Order: sequence, then C-alpha cells, then structure tokens
Amino acid sequence: MRLPLSESVSSRLGSLEVLHEIDSTSEYLKRTRTQNNANSIRVCAAERQSSGRGRRGRRWVSPYGANLYLSLAVQLGKAALRSGGLSLAAAIAVLRALQDCEIRGVGVKWPNDIFYQGRKIAGILLDLSGESSGPFYVVLGIGINLKMPESAAREIDQPWADISQTGVKVDRNHLAGTILEALVQAIDTFGEKGLEAFIPEWNQFDMLSGRAVELHYDEEPMITGIARGIDASGALLIEENGVTRHFNAGEVSVRVA
Ligand code: BTN
Repeated sequence: MRLPLSESVSSRLGSLEVLHEIDSTSEYLKRTRTQNNANSIRVCAAERQSSGRGRRGRRWVSPYGANLYLSLAVQLGKAALRSGGLSLAAAIAVLRALQDCEIRGVGVKWPNDIFYQGRKIAGILLDLSGESSGPFYVVLGIGINLKMPESAAREIDQPWADISQTGVKVDRNHLAGTILEALVQAIDTFGEKGLEAFIPEWNQFDMLSGRAVELHYDEEPMITGIARGIDASGALLIEENGVTRHFNAGEVSVRVA
C-alpha cells in the first residue's frame, strides 16, 4: 500500500505499517507502544482484522481486502484534550476526506458515526491511555466500508452502507492517504482551538438535528426528545418538554414514527 501523503504529514510519521492480518489495528498500536515511538505519529492499516473492535464492545466486521481498517496513534498533552470531543473532530475529518473523494450524501451521527443515506458507512473508535495528568496516548481507529462482501455483510447487526453503493469509484490507497491527511490536520486544529473549530461543519452535516430521537444509556430509563446538535464539549443536546439536556454518553437512534 503506497499512500499519497504530503511531505508535511509523511515527515511526522514515525511508522506506517500495512499488515495482511491482525486482530485489530488499534490493539496492535497500543501493545507495540514503546518509549522510543511515543512522540511520533504511528499508523497501522490491515487487509483483515480477526477481532476488529467497534464502540460499546461491538465487533467490527473486517473481511480481507474489502474495506479500510486504519488506526493512528499520537501522544497529546492534557491541554490538547481539555475540551473533549476529539472523536467528533475525527468524524468531521473522515467526512471531509470522503467529500474530497467526491462522495456526497454523507452525514454525521453523534458521537462519531458516518452515515450514507441513513445507513452506517464508517465508524471511529477512540482509545485513550496515560496518567490522569497526561500526556495521553491516543489511538484513533477508523473503519470504512468500501465493498462489503455478501458473506461478511450477513454478520453485521446494524444497517450498513459501503462506498460501492455511492456509485463513486475510490482507490483504497488514495482514500487512506486522504483520511490520514485530514486526521492529522484535524488533530492539530483540535489541539489549538478545541472542538469549537468543528462545530459549524458538525451543524451542517448533523443527521440527527431537529429529529425525534431516543437515547439509551446502560440501565438508565430511555431518554426521548428532539436532537438539538452538540455543545462546546461535544455532548449531545436533547430537548424534552422545552428543557434541553446535555448527554456525554449513550447510544442514540432516530425514533420511528
Ligand atoms: C464503531 O463501532 O463505529 C467503531 C468502529 C471502528 C473500527 C475500526 S477498524 C480499525 C480500528 N481497529 C479496530 O479494531 N477498530 C477500529
């Protein structure tokens, strides 16, 4: 895999590994972290993941050679993470990259899913480790469906889409390079300005805003209301009986009338 990367991004990469098969590209970056590589950006992509991880303990179906499975690890200071919402900024970066590849009709669903025509086309997983005073070792894992084989599709437990359904032909290496460029840029912007810099785009591409939603969070009673975008920390706003509440976690879905 040769990725088309700008000089400024490639000069910051400590390593770029493309593996045939691994349990999970994010797990790989976490367990191979050493003092020597802690300060540089590390990237790992794989043709197949045998134990691809999704959010909330889900599995990420990762058949061979079909899609993009890519993780990026970077060390960030506590200050860079203070405003929260890095994974939302990463979702905007993925959205920008898809648009750069001429893919239209994509939107974001809180907290960091990318949807195409109401079905999930890409997901982001954020892993943080480190002392509470920082610095933090951040691993961002990105999974994008390009051409999901039928046999693998049967294993997916939620509505899904892939890039082949958009009618746009995208070279996988080109997409991977575009995503890395967008991610590195988004991490830098997030470090300087926080989530605020991404909120206008979030509002533009928010597929929940103004819709009746329900939010499930562990054993808590289900919350229902109208989605009203996000706040400055990335929390989801839900208006219920004229009162707007802020939610930092949970699984949100559009209510079926
Ligand atoms: C989600 O549930 O939406 C998050 C999916 C994240 C999948 C990617 S694929 C590359 C990286 N490695 C993993 O095991 N998971 C992430």
